Amino acid sequence: MSSKEEVRILLVGDAGVGKTSLIMALVSEEFVREVPAKAEEIIIPAEVVPDNVPTHIVDFSYQDQNEEDLVEEIKRADVVCIIWASNDEDSFEGVTSVWLPFIRRNTEEDQRTPVILVANKADLIEYSVDEAMTPIINDFPEVEASISSSAKSLKNITELFWYAQKAVLHPQAPIYNPEEKELTRSCKAALERIFKICDMDNDQILSDDEVIVFQRKCFEVPIQPHALEEVKQTVQSHLADGVDIRGPNYGFTLKGFLFLMELFIERKKIETVWTVLRAFGYDDKLLLRKDVLEPKLNVGVGSTTELSHEGVQFLTSLFEKYDEDCDGMLSPTELTNLFSTCPRLPWGPDVNNTVVTNTSGWISLQGYLAQWTLTTLLEYKDTLEHLAYLGYLYHQDSTLSALQVTRDKKIDLQKRQTARNVFRCHVLGPKQVGKTAFLQGLIGRNLRYVATLNREQLSKFTINTVQVYGQEKYLMLHEVDVAWSDMLSPTETNCDVACLLYDVTNPRSFEFCARMYMKHFLDSRVPTLIVACKVEHPEVRQDYNLTPKAFCEKFKLPPPQRFTCIDKVNRDIYVKVATMAAYPNLKRLVHMLLVHQNPVWLEERLSHLKDAALSNDKRLIKYGIGVVTLAGIGFLVYKIVEKYNK
Ligand code: GTP
Ligand code: MG
Repeated sequence: MSSKEEVRILLVGDAGVGKTSLIMALVSEEFVREVPAKAEEIIIPAEVVPDNVPTHIVDFSYQDQNEEDLVEEIKRADVVCIIWASNDEDSFEGVTSVWLPFIRRNTEEDQRTPVILVANKADLIEYSVDEAMTPIINDFPEVEASISSSAKSLKNITELFWYAQKAVLHPQAPIYNPEEKELTRSCKAALERIFKICDMDNDQILSDDEVIVFQRKCFEVPIQPHALEEVKQTVQSHLADGVDIRGPNYGFTLKGFLFLMELFIERKKIETVWTVLRAFGYDDKLLLRKDVLEPKLNVGVGSTTELSHEGVQFLTSLFEKYDEDCDGMLSPTELTNLFSTCPRLPWGPDVNNTVVTNTSGWISLQGYLAQWTLTTLLEYKDTLEHLAYLGYLYHQDSTLSALQVTRDKKIDLQKRQTARNVFRCHVLGPKQVGKTAFLQGLIGRNLRYVATLNREQLSKFTINTVQVYGQEKYLMLHEVDVAWSDMLSPTETNCDVACLLYDVTNPRSFEFCARMYMKHFLDSRVPTLIVACKVEHPEVRQDYNLTPKAFCEKFKLPPPQRFTCIDKVNRDIYVKVATMAAYPNLKRLVHMLLVHQNPVWLEERLSHLKDAALSNDKRLIKYGIGVVTLAGIGFLVYKIVEKYNK
């Protein structure tokens, strides 16, 4: 497979060197004495070319064309053959004094068009011109190959065009330095990444099983055991530490793998190396192709992006692969190794304060998956790009299978059920109210611990799993800064639930919550929770015409939730927030849950009422509660409501 859809070969050179004759000789397989100044453009269909890429052959002649045409053709060409006549000194001079500089001037420096040097009319001389061409090859890296030919004796005609084609489809310059007889730096880096991806058990050795998978991925044909054995022996005979012979994992080391690739190139099998590189998504500049990094995904306005089961599985196995000491945590070194196939570390130091870590700040599997969930929710393109770098495509056709797009929230609301797993909560409150503490509480940190953290590295986000009716859901908290003008942008109000925080010790703080609620949430369908912070202190009277409790009653909000986090953080509040986000229609249910704050009480009710639940469906409908979604839970609501109304 090549990144090119067609190859355009242009022939240039001084007048009379035999350009048109070479093209005619290729087409008619004989020397044509009478040729026009310029041959018509020839298209060789894909079926008859080795790499199945249609090939255009384009002649140029100053007899028919001018310099403008030449510039135009050079820009369009994928490869240029500079022809000179072996018996004509001047035409040889022209290669370096005219043609190579002219081509350089008219192509981009970072994308130099490959050049093939062709010494034509070989039938007219009796000596080799190879030596004359060597210094040019050394001075002009864009020269991929040189060849001598004769249109008259039909020498090397097909070869010349094959070289040209190969220079486009399997160029040497990006991957190999012939002077040093060495792979280029970027090629080594690409192959090292490939090695890491293929080394699935992370033991720095490609075992036979791993080579078999690699072979199938790149070449789509199985490798025979004896062939594999032979390759290993060849590598080992040249390079003692190219193959690791210790223990049961007898296989290629990275050094041996790189050496094997060099061997292919030296044995004129450069296409083999390109096949490997392209199978892993590289383009001609040895960068991952755009279609690999940025596959198209349609995400509607009301939808969000989450990791799919496949995505979670891949990321989990990656975590396990790099958790070398199997302690369930990624140490800084392990984290760096995990991302060593990516061009840069995707997570800044604030990740340690965004998700669950141990006390040294090392990320647990739970935290790691939560961080990926956050990235996928906020910047799914980042997730897709990194999955590609991390080797997701080694086992799957597209990174898109790692993601799922949720149904439009409007439909969720209509149908009163949601399949979403990630909910977004925006946290607002006046300065110093305790927003950061509230965010950090979600990842199990109390205020004493938060006080030890570097404030610079605190994040505006935290995310963790929360149990909502026995199901694991992700709750993401986002601290939203409110400008002086009280304005919030649409993205700042776009959330599944909002928490408005006030400080029980600051009499002026509730007014902020009330104002925010009236301005931004009263008319929206976003469930809102008022949170009273710092309740370990005595509560002062708020300077507002309604008490927080009365305010909530007036606007049919759940009563203010009391929150403290000095030592022990009560996780119940996060469960409540997530529940409100997951079941926004069930205001009454949520309200009830919040009134009866004792979860034991709920559990008891739940077990008592479970049996009777099945027979009460009709009444549930009467109460307008999502029967389909909640089944047993719906019944519980009904019963509670009934009890409450008595
Ligand atoms: P312009 O179109 O004018 O730029 O020339 P060209 O490069 O297309 O050269 P063309 O193919 O017209 O050939 C010029 C002359 O060289 C003709 O008389 C050809 O027959 C002759 N010629 C071309 N190739 C060979 C060759 O390999 N050996 C010999 N002996 N003569 C050749
Ligand atoms: Mg011609």
